[in-house]
Amino acid sequence: MFDLTGKKALVTGSSQGIGFTVAKYLSEHGAKVFVHGGMSCEKTCGAAEKIGNAVPVTVDLFDGACDEKLYAVTGDIDILVLNASVQYRKAWDEITDEEFYKQIDVNIRASLKLIQKYAPHMKEHRWGRIVTVGSVQQQKPHKDMLVYAATKAAQLNMVINLAKQLAPFGITVNNVAPGVIATPRNADALADKEYAAKVMSGIPMGYAGEAVDCAAQILLLCSDEGRYMTGEDIYIDGGMKL
Ligand SMILES: NC(=O)c1ccc[n+]([C@@H]2O[C@H](COP(=O)([O-])OP(=O)(O)OC[C@H]3O[C@@H](n4cnc5c(N)ncnc54)[C@H](OP(=O)(O)O)[C@@H]3O)[C@@H](O)[C@H]2O)c1
Repeated sequence: MFDLTGKKALVTGSSQGIGFTVAKYLSEHGAKVFVHGGMSCEKTCGAAEKIGNAVPVTVDLFDGACDEKLYAVTGDIDILVLNASVQYRKAWDEITDEEFYKQIDVNIRASLKLIQKYAPHMKEHRWGRIVTVGSVQQQKPHKDMLVYAATKAAQLNMVINLAKQLAPFGITVNNVAPGVIATPRNADALADKEYAAKVMSGIPMGYAGEAVDCAAQILLLCSDEGRYMTGEDIYIDGGMKL
């Protein structure tokens, strides 16, 4: 079950957090995985070393040529997990143009560019898996993350659009929407006990999820076993959206 032997996968933003665990799961199930980060080669290489059967690639998704730069290292791939994102916490009336465009560039434009780059091979081979990582904020936006939430909703719309167009080629396109998942991104915020208690009170299950909760679902979507699911939006949020 979930045998990915012979498949090549790129997981964006896999130098830490959810992406790291997704890359680890895909590798453990036989895929050759490209571990990606934007910050430093050292960090990405360290993550790839921990995973094994993995190749590091460091490219800033803010870069307009990010698709070309990634493709130069990965070549064609069968599985694309679009996990990296940028998020600014700020009141809606304080968001700057730079912050707006950075979130749009990384969370939407780069996602589209990478799909444009990698889908032709998947179409040719009549097999492909594309998974985007969205957020519970598609449905339940946080007041201090207006643009971030909007980019995740837009990315979901792209998934629905492409799922229909790519299904005839054996390519599935799905979105997973995490709620609160304990990762380096929110470690500081959740270390504040008062804030953490407030957040947990909004989660029916009463606790934050872990990266494995997302990785297990993404593994299913990337496998042969997940072949009949497409255009789905799957919440992994302990009921937070309800
Ligand atoms: N954690 C949560 O509670 C939560 C909730 C809802 C949705 N999500 C979504 O889940 C995904 C993963 O979240 P996470 O918490 O695991 O994030 P994280 O710990 O902040 O990790 C983010 C990853 O994205 C990469 N990245 C960020 N900006 C980049 C850029 N400009 N170019 C290339 N890579 C970049 C980072 O690489 P470097 O550091 O190497 O640059 C890192 O590997 C994101 O899409 C996030 O929006 C998370």
